[in-house]
Amino acid sequence: MKKWKLGLLTALLALSMTACSAKETAAPEATATPTPAAEATATPAPTPEPTATPEPTPEPIVVTETFQSLFGKYGIKAGTCLSDFMISNKKCNQIITEQFNSITFENHLKPEAVLNYQESVAAGDLVVKFNNTTLNLLEWCKENDMAVRGHTIIWHSQTPDWIFYEDFDNKKELVSRDVMLKRMESYIKQTFEELEELGYIDMFYAYDVVNEAWMEDGSMRDSLWLKTIGEDYIWQAFNFANKYAPEYIDLYYNDYNEQFKTLTLYNFVQTLVDKDGNYLIDGVGFQAHLYTEDNLETYFNTLEKIGSLGLKVCLTELDVSLGTWQNVKPGTEANLKIQGQYYYNLVNGILKRVEEGKVKMDSFTVWGFADNLSWRKERSPLFYNMLYQPKYSFYGALQMKEYAGFPEE
Ligand code: GLA
Repeated sequence: MKKWKLGLLTALLALSMTACSAKETAAPEATATPTPAAEATATPAPTPEPTATPEPTPEPIVVTETFQSLFGKYGIKAGTCLSDFMISNKKCNQIITEQFNSITFENHLKPEAVLNYQESVAAGDLVVKFNNTTLNLLEWCKENDMAVRGHTIIWHSQTPDWIFYEDFDNKKELVSRDVMLKRMESYIKQTFEELEELGYIDMFYAYDVVNEAWMEDGSMRDSLWLKTIGEDYIWQAFNFANKYAPEYIDLYYNDYNEQFKTLTLYNFVQTLVDKDGNYLIDGVGFQAHLYTEDNLETYFNTLEKIGSLGLKVCLTELDVSLGTWQNVKPGTEANLKIQGQYYYNLVNGILKRVEEGKVKMDSFTVWGFADNLSWRKERSPLFYNMLYQPKYSFYGALQMKEYAGFPEE
């Protein structure tokens, strides 16, 4: 190799080695964990390319209807149950007064809430005395111009046992039929008298005189009312209610699983007549604790069948749980959409039948409005979620089909 060539090669080698070692020493600096300040001064990220078609901002849903305006077009009051929590909560107040014009007390007109033990013992008769919560709820209804459904007088549940025993002492014997009939009459009479004396009676347009007395197999439910008075206890209750309730208050028999008790109810209500054959009852309350897998045609058939008797038929405690009784479904988007469709179809079918004159309905009551306040909260049965945001079911019931969860057409 010529000397100059060797010199050139050495020089190139040396150069490349310097470059290499320069790289080696520079490298750690470049990969050192940057301090936040260093990060901030790092080459700014390129501004993101604007997307070709910008995402449209979702149009806010314009809701022009409320439950009271929708049902009002058909002469039907829109109702909710009411609790002491609801009247103390601002958001609930706002929803109720905007959406509803009828109220049913969730608990505070039930037998256990209105029958006073001490006073009954002292008087030797059943004594009706409303507690402070009941009074607050009544006052709230008055202030907010609500119509009220009374719920309920004669029931097997949430009823104190002591009312059925000698001296109101459940260690003693059950009283005779005659004594129990007297107690029943006194209880019913005082219920209406008390409301009158307190100045609330005019708000009431309906009252559930008897609740849940029949079973799905057509037999009467076992209860202390049945045991002490006998099989005519329901007739007796309606007879007394007719005697003491003002004429403008409609008297109701109220029950659940109505679609499985259709014939029983159909036959039974026809026995609630006076000696001239006039009805002692004005209407049948369908509690309507339904499931998204309940068959709607069956339900409508029951409505029409009872409606054919000429009595009023009202939905009194509606909620639609996800799934079935045995198989609760989770509140997924898909299941909530199914619920939205169900509410749409249910309300649609009812309003259609009211319009056609097949059903006389003067109120449509939901057992609450927000899932978190429902007795079936784990089944997400109502119109608003826990944050009081409207669900598909809200739009469905309001007949806003495009927001009710139906597949897009
Ligand atoms: C029945 C009663 C209601 C209420 C519900 C559960 O449907 O009629 O008053 O107690 O059960 O909340």
